[in-house]
Amino acid sequence: MAYETLIVETRGNVGLVTLNRPQALNALNSTVLKELKEAYAAFHADETVGAIVLTGSERAFAAGADIKEMQPLEFADIYKSDFISGWEEVAKARKPVIAAVSGFALGGGCELAMMCDFIIASETAKFGQPEITLGVIPGMGGSQRLTRAVGKAKAMDLILTGRMMDAAEAERSGLVSRVVAPERLLDEAFAAAEKIASLSRPSVMMAKEAVNRAFETTLEEGLRFERRLFHSLFATDDQKEGMAAFVEKRKPAFTHR
Ligand code: CAA
Repeated sequence: MAYETLIVETRGNVGLVTLNRPQALNALNSTVLKELKEAYAAFHADETVGAIVLTGSERAFAAGADIKEMQPLEFADIYKSDFISGWEEVAKARKPVIAAVSGFALGGGCELAMMCDFIIASETAKFGQPEITLGVIPGMGGSQRLTRAVGKAKAMDLILTGRMMDAAEAERSGLVSRVVAPERLLDEAFAAAEKIASLSRPSVMMAKEAVNRAFETTLEEGLRFERRLFHSLFATDDQKEGMAAFVEKRKPAFTHR
């Protein structure tokens, strides 16, 4: 399929999506949303793909929702169309998605990175929610996902002032899982994605579901949910194979990959 705003490719068992609107620092417009949903759907349908890497350019992962597209919009129109709600579909990807972030990840760009399962950042990465400087507030989940990721103090600081934080601060705050040199970024994200793709798919997908459930429910319900998923994995060939391989001191050959 030909994409206008993305480069979409498969490398081995990993799907790679590169945001590609360099003239607008990868600002997220309605075409990016439509194409990202299509790319994810294609990867989900492709049995060979076990994990996805989402990246941008060296200068910008994405500098936010497209301000030029939003500028003329009126309340009644965006309310009626429930503007932005389509991004929730992107956040609900069932296969693991790793964000590889270099340069600006601002506004919707930071929010898109947070829709991924974890973020690997280059030393050049800059995160922020500058919507307040435009007379609005985050609209793609920033007030909710950033607060859950970094806590109230840091989220309020970033959202109320609109300031950016660098990769070191983002790692300290728990927003990103690793920071690497710019030239290592894609290799690092690929290595993590390949590792995930080599594992048993049901256990990977259930692990993702279980962690995400921690953000939605009480501890007691979350623990019960985790335990039931854990129990259910004993119905898979891959639990038999994974544990047998450990005991026999060999590499597992998982069926469901
Ligand atoms: N939307 C549309 N176009 C954008 C954009 C955005 N979010 N961010 C950058 N661009 C465009 C610029 O307009 C510029 O285009 P022109 O050359 O045609 O003028 C081009 O990208 C390069 O940008 P700059 O010249 O501004 O580059 P810079 O290096 O001087 O500054 C920057 C970089 C600090 C990231 C600056 O571009 C900037 O502040 N961008 C906007 C960041 C922002 O406010 N993001 C939040 C958007 S609102 C949002 O996301 C709402 C939501 O939660 C859903």
